[in-house]
Amino acid sequence: MTYSAVEVITAKRDGHALDDGAIDWVLRAYLEGAVADEQMSALLMAIYFNGLDGRELATWTAQMIASGERLDLSGLSRPTVDKHSTGGVGDKVSLILCPLVAACGAAVPQLSGRGLGHTGGTLDKLESIPGWRARLTNAEVVDQLERVGAVICAAGEGLAPVDRRLYALRDVTGTVESIALIASSIMAKKIAEGTSALLLDVKVGSGAFIKDRHRAHTLATTMTALGDAHGVRTRAQLTDMSTPLGVAVGNALEVTESVDVLRGGGPPDVRELTVALARHMLELVGIDDEPAARLDDGSAYAAYRQLVAAQGGDPDAPMPLAPLVEPVLAPRGGVVESVDALGVGVAAWRLGAGRARKEDPVSKTAGVRCLVRPGDLVEAGQPLFELHADDPDHLRSGREVARRAVRIGEGPVAPRRLLYEVVEGRAR
Ligand code: URA
Repeated sequence: MTYSAVEVITAKRDGHALDDGAIDWVLRAYLEGAVADEQMSALLMAIYFNGLDGRELATWTAQMIASGERLDLSGLSRPTVDKHSTGGVGDKVSLILCPLVAACGAAVPQLSGRGLGHTGGTLDKLESIPGWRARLTNAEVVDQLERVGAVICAAGEGLAPVDRRLYALRDVTGTVESIALIASSIMAKKIAEGTSALLLDVKVGSGAFIKDRHRAHTLATTMTALGDAHGVRTRAQLTDMSTPLGVAVGNALEVTESVDVLRGGGPPDVRELTVALARHMLELVGIDDEPAARLDDGSAYAAYRQLVAAQGGDPDAPMPLAPLVEPVLAPRGGVVESVDALGVGVAAWRLGAGRARKEDPVSKTAGVRCLVRPGDLVEAGQPLFELHADDPDHLRSGREVARRAVRIGEGPVAPRRLLYEVVEGRAR
C-alpha cells in the first residue's frame, strides 16, 4: 500500500483513525526526509485536536522505539527499575532516588533530560558538580550499572531518534500538551532504555506541565498502559506540584539540598516524596528493603558519591556560589497562604537557572531559596525568598516575578497533600 502525507494529515484532521501501515510509513518517511517538517507539523496539530486511540497510540509508540536502538540490560545481576518525573519546580528527587534505590539492591538506569522553560532538568543540576559528565556510551552505562547500580546520563542519540525531531517540532508549533504525544514521547524513550520496571511521578499543579488532576490521571493511565503493552512493569504516582518541592530551586542549589537529604537531613517534603517513590520502585522489582533506613545509615550517600565519581565528578568539590544574593522581604505580616510553584519556577528561570531554547546555556549558581511554606506565620520585613544570580539584570528580572509568587493573608491554610493517587499498570 502506498501512502501520501496529505492523505494521512486529512484523515486525522477529519477525525479518522490511522491504520498501522500509515503510522509506520509517516514516521519512517519523516525520519528519512520524505515527509516535510510542515507536513508533520500539520499532522501533530491534527493529533493534538483529535488524539490517537489505544491501537494507534500503541503503533505510534512502537514505531518511535523502532526508529532507533534498544539497550539490552538483561545481563545485569540486579533487577532494573527507573523513574520518570513529568517535571516540576525544585524537583531534585532523581538525584537522591537513583543512588538510594541502588543502595537497596536495584540497578537504576536514569536516562535524563535537560530543563526547558520554568522546569529544571537533572543533567543541568548535576553538571554544576566540577568534572561531572552527562554523556556516556552504552557500554559505560551497562558497566556502571553493574558496578555502582546507578547511572544518571543523557539519553543516547540512538534511543528513539524520531522523538528528538518530533519534540523539537512540537516545541515550536504549540503541540506539546497533547496526552497522546507526551505519553508516546516519554514511554518510547523509557522502553528503549531497556528498564524492566518504571515508576512515573506525574506532577499536578501550577508548576507542572499538566495543571489538573483529571488530565494527569488520563496521562498516567495512558503511560502505564503503554508500559504494560511493552512488558515494562509500570506504575504512576500522582504528586502535588502547586508548591515548589523543598527549599532550593536552581542547579547547584538543588545539588546541595539533595546531598543534605542523602545524608539523612534536608527538607521533610523532599525526603517524604523520595522515600515514597523509592518504596514503589523496590516493590515493582520485588526487593524488600526500607529506603528511609538507607538514607539514615549513609549507604545512599555512599552510592551517590560512587555515581558522581564514576562519571568524572568530584563529590568533595565545593559547589559554586552565586556572586549576588538578595532577600525578598514580606510586604506585610500574616499567614503564608500559598507559594506558587509556577511563580518561583519562572523567577529561577529569569535569574538564569533555566533556558528559553534548548541550545541556551544555564547558570550553575542562579536560583531561589524558598524560606517560607504555606501555613507559616510571617512578620512584615521577614525574608520570604533568597534570590541568587550572576548579574544585576537577571537579579532585577527574577525579583519582579518572585515578589508576586507568595500570597499572604489571614489563613487558615489546609495542610499540604503531597501524594495523590497511584495508577497501576497491569503487567505482572
Ligand atoms: N517529556 C518528554 O520527554 N516528552 C514530552 O512530550 C513531554 C515531556
